[in-house]
Amino acid sequence: MDVIVEARGLRHVFAGGVVALDGLDLRVEKGRRLAILGPNGAGKTTLLLHLNGTLRPQSGQVLIDGQAMEYDRAALNRWRRRVGLVLQEPDDQLFAATVFEDVSFGPLNQGLGEAEARNRVEEALQALRIAHLADRPTHMLSFGQKKRVAIAGAVAMRPDVLLLDEPSAGLDSMGTAHLLSALEKLRDGGTTLVFTTHDVDLAWQWADQVALFHQGQVVAQGGAAEILGDAQILAPVHLQVPLVLALGLRARALGVLDARDDLPRRRAEAAALVEKWAV
Ligand SMILES: Nc1ncnc2c1ncn2[C@@H]1O[C@H](COP(=O)(O)OP(=O)(O)O)[C@@H](O)[C@H]1O
Ligand SMILES: [Mg+2]
Repeated sequence: MDVIVEARGLRHVFAGGVVALDGLDLRVEKGRRLAILGPNGAGKTTLLLHLNGTLRPQSGQVLIDGQAMEYDRAALNRWRRRVGLVLQEPDDQLFAATVFEDVSFGPLNQGLGEAEARNRVEEALQALRIAHLADRPTHMLSFGQKKRVAIAGAVAMRPDVLLLDEPSAGLDSMGTAHLLSALEKLRDGGTTLVFTTHDVDLAWQWADQVALFHQGQVVAQGGAAEILGDAQILAPVHLQVPLVLALGLRARALGVLDARDDLPRRRAEAAALVEKWAV
């Protein structure tokens, strides 16, 4: 598998002596969905800010396609075009008067002509199902709407890698479902997706790969079932095996689920399995 973004030995100590990243290694494989899973304060946000060049490591390096990144203005511009970041708080990201203007900013800034930029914006708004909000003032939107506008802004840049910081934070279950289906479309289009979360259920529902974060380091990285299904790996980080996965693994062990069949990812799939079990 091709590695598109890699962090090697990243270290970042904030003023006051807080060690946020402590020699962190991470590999992001092309076209995959990677969940960076860890408790609050583990350093997840700090890591994403390094992966798009917003923060510079005090030691270690970030590589894109195997090439160590540089921090001059031209290199940073190229970098941010390839690696988009959606912040946890949409208010930290949105700044233009209207939704359309906000989402246009990136494409226009990339030097695209007005017609091409407009296409990009319309496509991004449609992908996030917010075309009807195009002319609305950003400051009058609901939290979930703002979040989708922020993501549309990143999508309009057509990044190869999209980093999302706690994408479901503050969204209700419907909002999260819409968001995941929009991200699914991006993934189908080839975008590599990396998201942070402290929610094991969300990670299991949606990630191919999981990196487990603890005290500024990635303590385990691998396939979602391999990491999230292993209570011994999760215990030191105070996380538990997601219920849907635990059920699937138990059903497999008992022969209710064939070893060749996929493990359930969603609640509805788990419920169907229980029905089968009960018969
Ligand atoms: N700007 C900052 N100045 C000082 N300390 C910070 C700053 N940003 C984050 N930290 C500290 O660094 C650690 C990691 O923070 P963060 O990356 O936000 O973790 P997470 O996103 O996993 O919750 C925390 O202890 C946090 O308090
Ligand atoms: Mg955070």
